[in-house]
Amino acid sequence: MRLGFVGTGVITEAVITGLVKSRSDIEAIVVSPRSQHIAARLAEMSPIVRVGSDNQDVVDSADIVFLAVRPQIAEEVVKELRLRQDQQVVSFIAAVPIEALAGWIGVPVTITRTIPLPFVAELRGATAIYPPNDQIADLFSSLGTSVQAQDLKQYDLFSAASALMATYFGLLEASARWLEAEGMPYDQASIFLKRLFAGLSHATDASKEQSFEAMASDFSTKGGLNEQVFAEFKENGGTRALTLALESVLKRIEQR
Ligand SMILES: NC(=O)c1ccc[n+]([C@@H]2O[C@H](COP(=O)([O-])OP(=O)(O)OC[C@H]3O[C@@H](n4cnc5c(N)ncnc54)[C@H](OP(=O)(O)O)[C@@H]3O)[C@@H](O)[C@H]2O)c1
Repeated sequence: MRLGFVGTGVITEAVITGLVKSRSDIEAIVVSPRSQHIAARLAEMSPIVRVGSDNQDVVDSADIVFLAVRPQIAEEVVKELRLRQDQQVVSFIAAVPIEALAGWIGVPVTITRTIPLPFVAELRGATAIYPPNDQIADLFSSLGTSVQAQDLKQYDLFSAASALMATYFGLLEASARWLEAEGMPYDQASIFLKRLFAGLSHATDASKEQSFEAMASDFSTKGGLNEQVFAEFKENGGTRALTLALESVLKRIEQR
């Protein structure tokens, strides 16, 4: 299997790092020469990675072509590529529908949209895939897990859920700033909160429980402090604010 990446940015680096760790069936990976420092780092990481001479060299050298440029320049970049009919195309590009990509590519190829998360580098990703494609799902399953969306709505929902990352850090920051305002040094608050959330993340991962509500109950004493904080958070509109933000981001995704 030969892979080519048009766009050698943050997410390409994460995906290739994961693939090099986890797969032995990849003969070659060719990356586009932009972002020279990342391209050079990847080429140094493994002998199977080569920096292509240009985007067309990447396409010509690959069975599966990954499109990993930013949405703003996607049309200009993709329209210039000359793909072969037998090629698979995997798009990381947020907000560009398959129909638009197919029109820009101009020859019949198989196109799959995916949302790799940065954690694929540590084989801890959960990559949403649409439409379902077992070969591509298998590739991303090596980087953690993959979830195949059965329709566009489901894919857009995965996309909305993947936009929760900044809110996670926002919750940590708001908590750390509160602790600081109450007199704890920020550094100490940060160390404590990191370990607390890392422990929770590990417990969530390890648990067989599907319901987060049940987990909340497992981690709360009846009438205790955890129960109180969440109840007050909810009463004061915390969960409502979250739901509204997700609804609004979904609308934005669907309008694109
Ligand atoms: N980051 C994430 O967590 C994430 C997750 C899922 C999906 N995505 C999607 O993945 C895509 C890439 O995101 P990213 O975060 O990796 O962005 P990024 O770090 O900005 O990478 C974009 C890359 O495209 C290169 N580029 C610019 N013009 C080019 C051209 N004409 N030909 C070839 N390459 C060109 C850039 O090179 P220069 O630096 O030299 O300009 C850079 O290496 C986006 O569409 C994004 O929506 C990102």
